[in-house]
Amino acid sequence: MRVLIVGGGGREHSLAIGLSGSPSVDSIHTAPGNAGTGKLGVNHDIGSSDIEGLVGLAREIEADLVVVGPEAPLVLGLADKLREIGIPCFGPHSEGAMLEGSKLHAKNTMIDLGVPTGRCQVIEEARDISNSLDSFHSPWVIKRDVLAGGKGVTVTSDRDVAERALSSALDADGMVLMEEHLDGEEASVLVVMDETGFVCLPPSQDHKRAFDGDRGPNTGGMGAYAPAPVVTPSVMKRVVDEVVGPMHHHLRNQKIPYRGCLYAGLMIDEEGAPRVIEFNVRFGDPETQVTVPLIDSDLGELLLAAAEGSLSSVEPSFSGMSAATVVLASEGYPESPITGGPISGSEASIDEGETRGLVHFAGTKSRDGILVSSGGRVLAATGIAPSLEAAVSTAYEIIENIDLQGSHYRSDIGHRALRR
Ligand code: AMP
Ligand code: GLY
Repeated sequence: MRVLIVGGGGREHSLAIGLSGSPSVDSIHTAPGNAGTGKLGVNHDIGSSDIEGLVGLAREIEADLVVVGPEAPLVLGLADKLREIGIPCFGPHSEGAMLEGSKLHAKNTMIDLGVPTGRCQVIEEARDISNSLDSFHSPWVIKRDVLAGGKGVTVTSDRDVAERALSSALDADGMVLMEEHLDGEEASVLVVMDETGFVCLPPSQDHKRAFDGDRGPNTGGMGAYAPAPVVTPSVMKRVVDEVVGPMHHHLRNQKIPYRGCLYAGLMIDEEGAPRVIEFNVRFGDPETQVTVPLIDSDLGELLLAAAEGSLSSVEPSFSGMSAATVVLASEGYPESPITGGPISGSEASIDEGETRGLVHFAGTKSRDGILVSSGGRVLAATGIAPSLEAAVSTAYEIIENIDLQGSHYRSDIGHRALRR
């Protein structure tokens, strides 16, 4: 198979590594890719939201499978266009992608299906702000109903901050969502699905806040690990029975069935009851970096089967290992990242018995033969080992030797699991 991967983050580098190790895959193309994907195949200078450019590229290279990393091209209809010309696409059509494209649509779908989630109110008039703040209590959760790259959500106990977030969202979008604050521990369950079945990947946990101790602003994700012990087998059963099963039943029965990854962002309460914070219609970043390496079987075969609607014919297997990844972010991330600085030490890797350590590249590019940063999340150091402790220490062993001026990373990735 010739595979085209769309995107240029750590997630896409991880997918490229998994696909390059798949017996079913001959060659890999990535658009736009990064310094890591460039070593595994051909990078093409086409942006991940340039739908016409991507369709043209898929046709030109005669791709047998297109794997879409980010949500934007899915919302913009990349999968619809590829299927029209007979190229299998891992990623849902534009209607399916609305589960991420509109938080209100996702909420309404969950309410219709009885999928557990927080109470929610739509605010359309500035005069309703005060009443709404009274009826929801602190901490307030305010969500813009737009694709905002993880930055459209405000969680705050400060009423003034909440009020400002509500009114600026109203000014910008004409509406805003107020959501019940959910207590518990977060977990991500990535589900590969099509109309014939679904496969849950090992549950993972992201670290959304910028700094140690879960402090600072929300980011795209500063590190992750899998499997996440908060999702015990009995919690996983509830996730399947109450969330994944009903969603799969709904999505398989649409006129155009859902084919791709459904990412359930969950809050697990003290009793082990899951509630959905959000759905994404793609693999997570950095969750992919800790789940794809745990797939033992042929990744290309799995993704192609979902893209073609024959998932029930494959039986993926998992290694039973643990993985952890630590993101190195540019100075100023997430507010205003400073890019362009040279990076050293990123060629490090570890290969000791069953333990492996590697770098997943993200916002990086080559300038005059030197690796420089080009984005907020620059790279992630990943450890894969028989235990979570060993995976975490392997990831830190790698990242401690990487140098990028002003960069920062969290030193407590995995703290909830390791404290148990
Ligand atoms: P989202 O973009 O919807 O994933 O929200 C970003 C982050 O905000 C989540 O990962 C949570 O940490 C937090 N968050 C969002 N919604 C809620 C909620 N209803 N209750 C508690 N935390 C939330
Ligand atoms: N790690 C969060 C996301 O991919 O949306």
